Amino acid sequence: MSDILVHTEAGVMTLTFNRVARKNSITTAMYAALAEAFEQAENDPAVRAVLIQGDQTVFSAGNDIGDFLATPEASGGEAPVFRFLRNIAAFPKPVVASVCGPAVGIGTTLLFHCDLVYAGDNAAFSMPFVNLGLCPEAASSLLVPQMMGYHRAAEALLLGEPFMAEAALEVGLVNRVVPPTEANGIAQTQARKLAAKPLAALVETKRLLKKSQQPAVQERITEEAQSFARMLREPAAREAFTAFMEKRKPDFSAL
Ligand code: COA
Repeated sequence: MSDILVHTEAGVMTLTFNRVARKNSITTAMYAALAEAFEQAENDPAVRAVLIQGDQTVFSAGNDIGDFLATPEASGGEAPVFRFLRNIAAFPKPVVASVCGPAVGIGTTLLFHCDLVYAGDNAAFSMPFVNLGLCPEAASSLLVPQMMGYHRAAEALLLGEPFMAEAALEVGLVNRVVPPTEANGIAQTQARKLAAKPLAALVETKRLLKKSQQPAVQERITEEAQSFARMLREPAAREAFTAFMEKRKPDFSAL
């Protein structure tokens, strides 16, 4: 079975991370599938909203660290991950997310490009890029301080510590905190409500809501991607990835 499940019903294309044994960490093939799904969703008049979800235990542990280690070039500026990010950031129809359990790295940053986010009370958001010798992606260096204010953004992005669902609600990253057993159902209901509305009005309203951010968001995605691709090859990131695979703490003392 595919690691990204795609199902369209009642005007909603539902994309489900389906790699729970690896905590829904995202491989290059999964980014390509996500990028393609967004391209299809944009062009298919039967799709009027997109929903992204995991299961009630985990949303996504972020990029597959084995992939980072084995093929850093597959995460360069033209890689499927950046095709996916550019697509979701520019996607004209509404995007809803349902997040339970860990949402690490891109598992959190992709949410800045969703219109509605529903979180289980077990959701734990984190952007540990510095801890991995990396820098932010998905325009998070622009969007996180805009949403949270500079100091909270610095705590999230420099310290890389997780924050829980209630804190995410407080800063406006999520719309509602719900029991994990109900999150996907509530998100699906909200996505179907959107799908039942006049599409042209939704699309124009979303365009206007996002107008002051664009094209700065796409520019920042590109700038971050250049740094990210370079840093993936550097010793701090190599040490962090190797330490994760060897289940030990990284040693940055010489770096
Ligand atoms: N890439 C590759 N494999 C991953 C992964 C990732 N990002 N996240 C988890 N896995 C694997 C683990 O190695 C483990 O494999 P194993 O069963 O062969 O030992 C399995 O998934 C289960 O993960 P585990 O760490 O045991 O689960 P947990 O519930 O204790 O912790 C997380 C969950 C998400 C907090 C933890 O897995 C984690 O921190 N993952 C890395 C997150 C990260 O740094 N992502 C990159 C962001 S840019």
